[in-house]
Amino acid sequence: MCGIVGYVGEKQALEVVVAGLRRLEYRGYDSAGVAVISEGRLEVRKKAGKLANLETLLGQDPLPQSTTGIGHTRWATHGGPTDHNAHPHVSEDGRVAVIHNGIIENFAALRAELTESGVQLSSETDTEVVAHLLARALPDVAGDLPRAMQAVCHRLEGAFTLVAMDPNDPTLVVGARRNSPLVVGLGEGENFLASDVAAFVEHTRNALELGQDQIVIVRADGVEVTDFSGNAVEAAPFSIDWDASAAEKGGYDLFMLKEIAEQPKAVADALRGRINAEHRIQLDEANLDDAVLRDITKVVVIACGTAAHAGMVAKYAIEHWTRLPVDVELASEFRYRDPIVGPDSLVIAISQSGETMDTLMALRHAKAQGARTLAICNTVGSTIPRESDAVVYTYAGPEIAVASTKAFLTQIVAAYLVGLYLAQARGTMFEDEIRGILADLADMPQKVDLVLDTVEPVRALAQEFANATSVLFLGRHVGYPVALEGALKLKELAYMHAEGFPAGELKHGPIALIEDGVPVIVVVPSPRGRAVLHDKIVSNIQEVRARGAVVIAIAEEGDESIVPFADHIIRVPETPTLMQPLVSTVPLQVFACELATVKGHDVDQPRNLAKSVTVE
Ligand code: G6P
Repeated sequence: MCGIVGYVGEKQALEVVVAGLRRLEYRGYDSAGVAVISEGRLEVRKKAGKLANLETLLGQDPLPQSTTGIGHTRWATHGGPTDHNAHPHVSEDGRVAVIHNGIIENFAALRAELTESGVQLSSETDTEVVAHLLARALPDVAGDLPRAMQAVCHRLEGAFTLVAMDPNDPTLVVGARRNSPLVVGLGEGENFLASDVAAFVEHTRNALELGQDQIVIVRADGVEVTDFSGNAVEAAPFSIDWDASAAEKGGYDLFMLKEIAEQPKAVADALRGRINAEHRIQLDEANLDDAVLRDITKVVVIACGTAAHAGMVAKYAIEHWTRLPVDVELASEFRYRDPIVGPDSLVIAISQSGETMDTLMALRHAKAQGARTLAICNTVGSTIPRESDAVVYTYAGPEIAVASTKAFLTQIVAAYLVGLYLAQARGTMFEDEIRGILADLADMPQKVDLVLDTVEPVRALAQEFANATSVLFLGRHVGYPVALEGALKLKELAYMHAEGFPAGELKHGPIALIEDGVPVIVVVPSPRGRAVLHDKIVSNIQEVRARGAVVIAIAEEGDESIVPFADHIIRVPETPTLMQPLVSTVPLQVFACELATVKGHDVDQPRNLAKSVTVE
């Protein structure tokens, strides 16, 4: 949450910072602000609402030229989304400007202390206290901003990425991080700070990872990293393996449409190089120790949102293939109960961003209990994979739209590869069985492509149901998490009441919601899989139809038995049961995207949401 950019170099800082903020707007879009240093003074502009509002303000009230600047796009926590609460915040004496991502948990005490000593606070944010604390710390450290930052960081509790500037040292930007993300971009005669590499990838593909509790001192000609006590530390360099065009719309009207269309390639990329000539799975970069995997007795998946749905899909497969029990837990719940994990548990954290605070905290909790940890992640170099014992990257490429699409499909693929790897290492499947499943997986890019080719009728359906007040989604087995994901997409994008249910639970309550005309989307299992699942869902369809529901079935090509019972049928290619989520989710993504478009919503940036949730 919140996007942060800092720049020092030879270019006009404002242009670099605003372009960076545009790429980070997915992180929050309640307000935006920038600050530059000009003629020994800080110049700040900030505005409530999306970045476009700030750009209008900058047109009316331009900033002076400057080659040092910072910028922020906000997802509000402390204090509403107003101009006052927008970042940057400036100390009373105009000496320090600061931007922040995270929550400073002891801010109330710090605020009281500042107020008592006569400081007038001008916002309701937790961030503003940092600006005043930095200004007060500067005289004690001979005006040295990095040292002032060290002193202040020692006083802060919670999660924070901070970036600050002081006009007395106009070619310096200082960053600090604890728990929230911050990466450094290394250019030629210019350097960058940002929450995510997307902000500077058009200028450089060379970057540095910052560790926990580190401070970074950025000038045009160099970057230094220290701990909170000022001791120099080595930061790990990495290179960004995608270019700026991957984070552009590429001819699509929406990032979400582009990302839906990229799914065949994303699934292929997630599989690439992971199956060797002997048809065995190799996850070389994952750093998985077969001896350790042979000793584990349970698997626990921790994740949030869409990533948790991917974990729920994977549970069906991993239990079936390995005979290990798999628990799937929302990370926010895992952390605050007393979960039973230890050295014999493999805890898999699934996260597109690699920064979701609940997932990170759950991961740390699992590590503290001695569990083995593995991250399934899309963002190379992010915190969750860095803090895990092993990582399997999903290689979906940058996902910009807030509602996750291609990340979901690739999380399923990566989790399946981990499940099959476990089965291989533990000998719970014959090699030819594993080969058969790998062949099924290898067919999936083409099948997802087929779904995209035939998805047009879904758009017409979405238009037909634009005025529905509620939509229900039903599924069984792996179709159940798909139903949850379909409902989540509709809530996120169309702001409609939508619920996903296991079809078998219908009679235990949800069926009371059915009345004349309620759309019910049913993910129908393959009749060629376990016939009982198919037969049971046909019965469930009849139960809701008898009560007036309009049934939309997502059913396999050739499944004619469904025809008499469904009002509408969306066809997906014939697919083995465990592979079905990779095809049946796609029409649900398109349905939600189209419905939101019909309603005139901002599909890529839905209200109240942010893509990367870095607060608990
Ligand atoms: C936010 C996003 C969701 C995402 C969830 C988990 O809520 O809007 O799309 O599924 O966070 O994010 P992660 O980056 O951990 O996968």
